Amino acid sequence: MRACVIHGAGDLRVEEWPDRPPGSGEVTVEVEVGGICGSDLHYYRDGAVGDFRVVQPLVLGHEIAGRVVACGEGVEGLEPGATVAIHPATPCGACRECTSGHRNVCRRARYLGSAALVPHVQGGFRERLVVAADQLRLLPETMDLRRAVLAEPLSVALHAVRRAGPVLGRRVLVTGAGPIGCLVVAALRHAGAAEVVVSDLLDEPLALAARMGATSTVRADAPEDPAWPEEVDTAIEASGAPVALRTCVERARRTGTVVLLGLLPPGEVGLLANRVVTHELTLRGAFRFDEEFDHALSLLAGGLDVSALVTHTFPLAQAGQAFDLAGDRAVASKVLIDLAGG
Ligand SMILES: NC(=O)c1ccc[n+]([C@@H]2O[C@H](COP(=O)([O-])OP(=O)(O)OC[C@H]3O[C@@H](n4cnc5c(N)ncnc54)[C@H](O)[C@@H]3O)[C@@H](O)[C@H]2O)c1
Ligand SMILES: [Zn+2]
Ligand SMILES: [Zn+2]
Repeated sequence: MRACVIHGAGDLRVEEWPDRPPGSGEVTVEVEVGGICGSDLHYYRDGAVGDFRVVQPLVLGHEIAGRVVACGEGVEGLEPGATVAIHPATPCGACRECTSGHRNVCRRARYLGSAALVPHVQGGFRERLVVAADQLRLLPETMDLRRAVLAEPLSVALHAVRRAGPVLGRRVLVTGAGPIGCLVVAALRHAGAAEVVVSDLLDEPLALAARMGATSTVRADAPEDPAWPEEVDTAIEASGAPVALRTCVERARRTGTVVLLGLLPPGEVGLLANRVVTHELTLRGAFRFDEEFDHALSLLAGGLDVSALVTHTFPLAQAGQAFDLAGDRAVASKVLIDLAGG
């Protein structure tokens, strides 16, 4: 079969990859759609995500949906032909975090298409993937796989909103209007936030954020713009830029909450720490998700409209072009790879 494989910074190849039959408790899925994520782009550009460096060929991709083609021994409730989304995480189930309801921060978690472990956990941008049956989620027959594939990034957004605490009727700032920031906007509006102000350095992602439900948008490089709220109840940092974290800390009201969702540059990052002290701010990290994946799928099946996020689709053979375009926020947001179409 063919797969989209990263060999090092800038070295992305569509090439042959070995196939294998499903083992006990496993299922073979014909992958039909994949979504390119910021971490896939980091592997492509830098050969690494944070401290995780590609040291052997790695099939990228953890936002995937497809169709069951074969079930291994002992698999029940899944038939060939069924459409499925795939939960990309496999927590260990035994560590302190797993046993206390925080499986998203499992210390031994495996994640599809990640170089965090060696050997790497191979990902899903390939024609067929063998995966544990319990990672599959059956989709309603009517659900478009191009929609289902957004469940993964939407889960990230839902988890961040959960970490923010109650947002009903509140004013929230979101810094960064990339795919993740835009989905945070949709999740916030769904959770009842009254005002969602979004900042970005580019007009195109801001226009998309407005379509996703932002009540106002502001340019991060125009601090004098009167559209900036003086203070917000909650701020969610979704750009990964240290200067945006500063904005969140500056704009959060006294006793407000700042959620750190964007992955900041490696190493130390500055913080207006005295502001946290004197305003009694709460800083909370948000990392990945767990059961939010099922919640995301039911929201998508129920009609939550985030389709504006998908700007382009490319066939697998043109994965290189897809990756080049996906990194350009002035023209693209979520870029999909069509693995069924060749
Ligand atoms: N914590 C997690 O579990 C998790 C999961 C997925 C992604 N992430 C992180 O979330 C962040 C967003 O992901 P994405 O895929 O949308 O990234 P992205 O790079 O596509 O989008 C980031 C956006 O932020 C904007 N931006 C840059 N500097 C800014 C500033 N100073 N103020 C406001 N906006 C600014 C960019 O123009 C861009 O539109 C990334 O840092 C990513 O690594 C975290
Ligand atoms: Zn992702
Ligand atoms: Zn664990």
